[in-house]
Amino acid sequence: MLAIQAREAGGVEVLEAVDVPVPVPGPGQILLRQEAAGLNFIDTYFRSGLYPAKFPLVLGQEGAGVVEAVGEGVTRFQVGDRAGYGVGGGGGYAQAVVLKEDKVVKLPDGISARTAAAALLKGMTAEFLIRRCFPVAAGDAVLIHAAAGGVGSILSQWAQSLGAFVIGTTSSDAKAQLALANGCDHVIRYDQGDFAPQVRELTDGAGVRVVYDGVGKATLEGSLSSLARRGMLVTFGNASGPAPAVEPLRLSRGGSLFLTRPTLFDYVTTAEELDDSAGALFEQILSGAVKIEIGAEFALKDAAKAHEALEGRKTTGSTLLIP
Ligand SMILES: NC(=O)c1ccc[n+]([C@@H]2O[C@H](COP(=O)([O-])OP(=O)(O)OC[C@H]3O[C@@H](n4cnc5c(N)ncnc54)[C@H](OP(=O)(O)O)[C@@H]3O)[C@@H](O)[C@H]2O)c1
Repeated sequence: MLAIQAREAGGVEVLEAVDVPVPVPGPGQILLRQEAAGLNFIDTYFRSGLYPAKFPLVLGQEGAGVVEAVGEGVTRFQVGDRAGYGVGGGGGYAQAVVLKEDKVVKLPDGISARTAAAALLKGMTAEFLIRRCFPVAAGDAVLIHAAAGGVGSILSQWAQSLGAFVIGTTSSDAKAQLALANGCDHVIRYDQGDFAPQVRELTDGAGVRVVYDGVGKATLEGSLSSLARRGMLVTFGNASGPAPAVEPLRLSRGGSLFLTRPTLFDYVTTAEELDDSAGALFEQILSGAVKIEIGAEFALKDAAKAHEALEGRKTTGSTLLIP
């Protein structure tokens, strides 16, 4: 079968198409034939070497399709089930993938494999950020960076459905239109100047209760400056590079602020947490509160082009790789 592996850490040129045998599921594992795989910023961190990995490495942490075989002792799945994953994967840039059954969820009626492949990693991230890391309540002012992106567009819609006052940031007028259509009450062009003063203005000087910051290096200081007293900065990604260190006294001076750097892999650790998180996401999608926008699809063999688009800020919503 076709798989895309990173030969070593580096730029997109390290990605190569390889022909590998279809893997065989061991005890407690399933073989998923993929209809689509999701593209995620984390894939670029593994490719570039920002996150440590053993090479050669088949990238990919999100996908969906049909269970083709089950290993010994598998209880959650049968051959023919529609299923998807977004945590604890790896090896997703391939036509088929072997996964531990407790890292995979069944797809309910009404959720297509393409939607699941576009939504599971990004949407479970939105779920834990907005319900568990900092639970957003009606009336809360929230700031969401890269609001037209994969995680950002799901988060914005989810925040709006909870009754929050949602301020998004983005880097083009077209993306700003999309963010406004996707749950943001206001959108700031953070490429055109400091966003923190604009956040203050939009919140009558108070600042926001929480900032969800997946951009990292370029936004961290502005995010801290956008917070209300006792607000929380959730820095959860490095799209512009890893966020710099923060002195505890900076948090004190900012108004007794909180800072956390969470990952999905610590919020979805068991099959129960997986079913809860994915279940809440599917509910949001099925109720119409959250629409999953698939901004682009690339053939799996063109994964390098997809990485270029993602790192070049050319994508909106979710991007799929089609095996
Ligand atoms: N902690 C976790 O568990 C977890 C889980 C999933 C995702 N994440 C993080 O969430 C963030 C979003 O992930 P995603 O896959 O949904 O990606 P994405 O938001 O679709 O793409 C990243 C966006 O970041 C913005 N950006 C700002 N500065 C950038 C720069 N210098 N280079 C590239 N992009 C830049 C761009 O939007 P604009 O053009 O609008 O600025 C870009 O479209 C990433 O940082 C990812 O690592 C974290």
